[in-house]
Order: sequence, then C-alpha cells, then structure tokens
Amino acid sequence: MESILETRNLKVSFNEKEVLNDVNLSFEKNKITAIVGPSGCGKSTLLKCLNTLLEEEPSSNIGGEILFKNKNVNNMEREHIREKIGMVFQNPSPFPMSIYKNMDYPLKYYKKNKRDEIIKKKLEEVCLYEEVKDRLKDSALNLSGGQQQRLCIGRALCVEPEVLLLDEPCSSLDIKNSKHIEDLLVNLKEKYTIIIVTHNLFQARKIADNVIFILDGRVIESDKTVNIFNNPKHMETKNYIRHEY
Ligand SMILES: Nc1ncnc2c1ncn2[C@@H]1O[C@H](COP(=O)(O)OP(=O)(O)O)[C@@H](O)[C@H]1O
Ligand SMILES: [Mg+2]
Repeated sequence: MESILETRNLKVSFNEKEVLNDVNLSFEKNKITAIVGPSGCGKSTLLKCLNTLLEEEPSSNIGGEILFKNKNVNNMEREHIREKIGMVFQNPSPFPMSIYKNMDYPLKYYKKNKRDEIIKKKLEEVCLYEEVKDRLKDSALNLSGGQQQRLCIGRALCVEPEVLLLDEPCSSLDIKNSKHIEDLLVNLKEKYTIIIVTHNLFQARKIADNVIFILDGRVIESDKTVNIFNNPKHMETKNYIRHEY
C-alpha cells in the first residue's frame, strides 16, 4: 500500500479536555477512506488536523506528528500544505460572489496562470460546467445546495491538491444530489486521494475503499471496507454497524 498521509501518536485536547488520543493512521494514495463514528467522537477534529487547520483554533492543544509524503507537516509551509491538502466543509460554503470569482479566488491567491482554462476544466471535473457555463457571472449563492457543494469541491480542486478532505459533504443534500457527489468522488480518486467523514454507513460502504471507525477519540478499527462491514474484529465496531445500519 502506498501511503500519502500518516498520523503518529496524534493527540488533541481543547482546554485540557482530550478529544483525540493516540491516533495512528495511514491513508492510502488514490483511494477513498471514510471516517465514521458517533457524533462528537472526533471526526471533524481529525480532519482539521490533517491539513493543519486545527492549529488556528486557540483552545486546541495538538501533540504527535502528521506526515505528508513522509515529511512532518510542522516542517512545511502552511500555505503549501493547504494547497496540497484541500478541504470541503459540511455546509456548502461558497463565497458571496460570482461562480467565476469563487473558482478564481484560490487561483489568484496562489498566483496561478491560465486561470480561465483551469476554471473550465475544474468545473467539468465536478460535472458543473454544463449547468453554469452561461451564468458564470451570477452569484454562487443562487445555485442549488447540490450545485453549491460541487462548486466548493471544484474550488478546492483548482490548485491541484493531492489530498481532498471532505467533512460530511452530503449531510445537507437530498438523495439525488448526494448520489451525484458520491459518483463524482469515485471518479476523482483516480487523480486525488479522498478522505471523507460521513455519518452515513451506506455511503461509506458504497464508495469507500477503506474505513476508519472512531469512538471517543480513539481509533477502534481501520481496515478495508469489506472487512469492516463483513468481518469487523472489534465488538465496538460490530455494535456500531448493527445499530447505525
Ligand atoms: N474548538 C473547540 N473547542 C472546544 N471543544 C471542541 C472544539 N471543537 C470540537 N470540540 C469538542 O471535541 C469533540 C469532538 O468534536 P468533533 O471533532 O467536532 O466531533 P465529530 O465531528 O465526530 O462530531 C466534541 O466533544 C466537541 O465538543
Ligand atoms: Mg463533525
């Protein structure tokens, strides 16, 4: 297995309250890894650690190591890490500006050339171009929720990240729009490594290659999706799957 991202003895606490404990994980390149577990178990916190976003929160205390392509992220420029490891949040969060400007924003920030070309290509990658090509100057806030989320994925992909982190990206979407995003992610894994937090076990089973089950800030089990669902090794995993499924 080729690993692109790793955590070693990762620990997180907020104001002395421990939220992640001794998390040792390895994320496989060009695969979809789903992070599952009950609400409050630390999924979003883990995701935010992976691209160093959590250190922006003053109450957080982070220990252990995160390695991106075998290099400790603490020895890398934050700008560079966040360019290489993009993030999409739970609620679609387009900026209050046009569709075009949303896509152009990261490209300008990272001083990229050929921006028009990239914008078209990335909108195509997220299957949005045909729907919006005649109204690129319209506000992104007028798009439907599903379109907004695809725009946010496209915006994250503009700067060619290697890893895409998604925090429950379908939780505010209906079934049809969720399926659209699921299909999209399966296609995108050829180019990107995808790590998705989901509370939807059907979704994890359908699209993920690997699943990580977290309970109370600890990794209980991390394995191939078929093993987690068909042959879980731990009682906690069995119980979670049985009750949530
Ligand atoms: N910025 C913060 N300050 C204090 N506590 C936090 C903060 N962010 C998360 N927590 C706490 O950390 C725990 C894990 O939260 P989170 O990672 O959001 O869980 P999940 O995404 O699995 O629902 C929760 O108890 C939550 O209240
Ligand atoms: Mg969360």
